Order: sequence, then C-alpha cells, then structure tokens
Amino acid sequence: MKLFVDSADLHELRALADTGLVDGVTTNRSLIAKQGGVFLDTLAAICAAVEGPVSAEVASTAYAGMMAEGERLAAIAANVVVKLPLTWDGLKATQSFAGRGIRTNVTLCFTAVQALMAAKAGATFISPFVGRIDDHGGRGMELIADIRAIYDQYGFPTEILAASIRTETHVKDAALAGADCATLPPKLFQGLLTHPLTERGLRQFLDDWSGSGQTIL
Ligand code: G3P
Repeated sequence: MKLFVDSADLHELRALADTGLVDGVTTNRSLIAKQGGVFLDTLAAICAAVEGPVSAEVASTAYAGMMAEGERLAAIAANVVVKLPLTWDGLKATQSFAGRGIRTNVTLCFTAVQALMAAKAGATFISPFVGRIDDHGGRGMELIADIRAIYDQYGFPTEILAASIRTETHVKDAALAGADCATLPPKLFQGLLTHPLTERGLRQFLDDWSGSGQTIL
C-alpha cells in the first residue's frame, strides 16, 4: 500500500520525504487555506520536494472552471494530479482530463456507488473519507472493502486512496481491506514506527552492548 502525506506544509513534507517512504502528497482547499502563502508557488515547491503524485484541488464547482483550473495546475509539474469533487461536473471534468492523459483524484467519496461512477469516468484515484464516515456512525473501512470488491469484479484500474485517515488502526485496516494508497496527516505518519517495546528493547540492547566493552568499527 502506498503512503501519502495529507498536508500543504512544505517544511513538514520535506522532513517526511527524507525518510524515503513518502509515496505522494494530497492537499485540499482547507489545508491550503490553513497554510497561507501563494498556492501555486507552494504547489510547485511540494512537487519538487516529492517524487510521487501530488493532488491539487480545483476551486471551481462548474465544469468549465474546473477544466481551466485543472489545466493550470497540471502545467505546474508532471506529478500534479488534479483533484475534483464527486459531482456531475467533477466527473465530467474527470472524463475530459482522462482523455487528455491528465491524472485525477476524485474526492469526497462516501458511497460505493459514487466510487463506481468515478471509476466509470476514468478517475486515476478515488478518495473515500473513512474517518468522516466513522464520525457519522458508519463504518468507513467497510466502504474501502466494498469498493475493492467492485473494482476487482470489473477490472477498474482506479486506485483506492483511503482518505480522512485518523489512526494507526485505520492504516492497518485500510491495508487489510485492499486500499491501494492511504493518505495520512503528518503527525500520524511520523508516529507509525513508535512502540514502547521497540524503544525499551533498543535501550536494553544498547546498554548490554556498551557493557560488553566491544565496538564494531
Ligand atoms: O484527504 C482528506 C482529508 O484531508 C480529510 O481528512 O480528517 O479532515 O476528515 P479529515
């Protein structure tokens, strides 16, 4: 499963990219607004800092505006993926971008039928919002499993990008449910290796080794 970082914070993204384990980045309008600065400049810098796909969302809600904005965003770097909302205009734009070889991420997916429609429109990625479904009393991870089954049944190449991921358990369950990718807030990504027994074990190994008086080099 590919791991993306859900952030528009260049500083945080650069630090995480240094791990060599960041497969891509997702941004949304809320993250960009929170970040401030000039969106197109920030996007260009993020695209240079990370090799994988970088999702950048359009601001328009009508087809013509989505096309104009998406083309502008896609021209910034080869790794830009145009992010579009799951609406009729959004799926129409998804089809047009697919015809031009421009990758898309269809966002705000809350049902398996929405995901089916996005795949039919030729979306490169579909973003089901796991955490927000859980927030409303649903089971976000069941949606990932349902989409996986539908895409496999019909051979859709659209990648399932589990979004609104909040916990390490979400990451594990998304992997078990067959998500192709998951996008994580930076703090969650940073904490993926943390376990008290790993830390305690390492401390003990280091103490025992230093007590032996030996060196490797
Ligand atoms: O990628 C979508 C994500 O940014 C939404 O996450 O936690 O605001 O539901 P959240």
